[in-house]
Amino acid sequence: MLFGRTTLSKFVIEQTRGQHSELGALLIDVAAAVKSISALVGKGALSGFSGYAAATNVQGEAQKKIDVLANEAILRHCEWGGQLAGMASEELEAPYRIPDDYPRGRYLLVFDPLDGSSNSDVNVSVGSIFSILARSTAGEAQKADFLRPGLEQVAAGYAIYGPATMLVLTVGSGTHGFTLDRESGNFILTHPDIRVPVETREFAINTSNERFWEPPVQRYVAECKAGRSGIRGADFNMRWIASMVAEVHRILMRGGIFMYPKDHKDPAKPGRLRLLYEANPMAMLIEQAGGAASTGRGRILEVAPEALHQRVPVILGSREEVERLERYHHEYDTGADRPFVSPLFAERSLFRD
Ligand code: F6P
Repeated sequence: MLFGRTTLSKFVIEQTRGQHSELGALLIDVAAAVKSISALVGKGALSGFSGYAAATNVQGEAQKKIDVLANEAILRHCEWGGQLAGMASEELEAPYRIPDDYPRGRYLLVFDPLDGSSNSDVNVSVGSIFSILARSTAGEAQKADFLRPGLEQVAAGYAIYGPATMLVLTVGSGTHGFTLDRESGNFILTHPDIRVPVETREFAINTSNERFWEPPVQRYVAECKAGRSGIRGADFNMRWIASMVAEVHRILMRGGIFMYPKDHKDPAKPGRLRLLYEANPMAMLIEQAGGAASTGRGRILEVAPEALHQRVPVILGSREEVERLERYHHEYDTGADRPFVSPLFAERSLFRD
């Protein structure tokens, strides 16, 4: 029996009591949407919603039927309550207008309804990611209202639909994890004040893109792969789930570093992940847990967005490794790493002992 444990509702009411009580109400609606999506995803092939929808999304990516449904779930659960000035979603080209039947508030909800959905048909963890911004006044949001740096987020979180469904949340004072008790339908606080270990020996990157990475990332990964006999003097482990939510969750639980860096695979895209509804909320959660989140050349939360669906390079996780990668980018940009990348100093160098 879980009587007396802290539920998500109790937690957000306590955290947002007073002037932010509308934020608490909004988070409870987000949690309700997440429970609907969890129920749908949990049915797997029995839901009848496997496979692709007819359309592609704004990014030109094939939409899965489950992406479309998850998007609907969040819109319907959150549009009515009077807290929102507008919503923006990975699945919608333009911001979603709150219907005139409902009152409008001052918050903006930005979300990726089903991240990693390529994994949904193969029964691997997927998730929903969200970010909440606040305007100074209530009313109908315009596109420009959403283009605020991640530092201005008032709350951020994700749900992971894995063996257990969890909701991991920050309202600006720590990162906290809640596990869905399927019998009672409550999210129970099971992971208060999560801390990312400062050091790690585990990295996550899609190495099939190695030839497209910039030299500082190639250098970092080569050093990890060299293991105990290389300059790091330690063996590293690698993981790649291709579901950012699952990768970030693992890092919050036991440390690690996740990279989807800048590459030149498609020069039109300076990274794969989206700033407003993937990178920013994850960066806030990771920073609130004592980790770091960078583009390689600066803090993700300080990037000034120029477009709703803007992409950004992402390097996040255990602080020491993120800082090392920032240093490698700096050394590359200033030319200070030339001795290290020179063939004379490469692995089989005459000068290496
Ligand atoms: O859309 C984002 C995403 O699905 C992330 O969840 C994941 O980290 C990444 O794309 C996987 O990309 P790739 O298919 O290139 O490994």
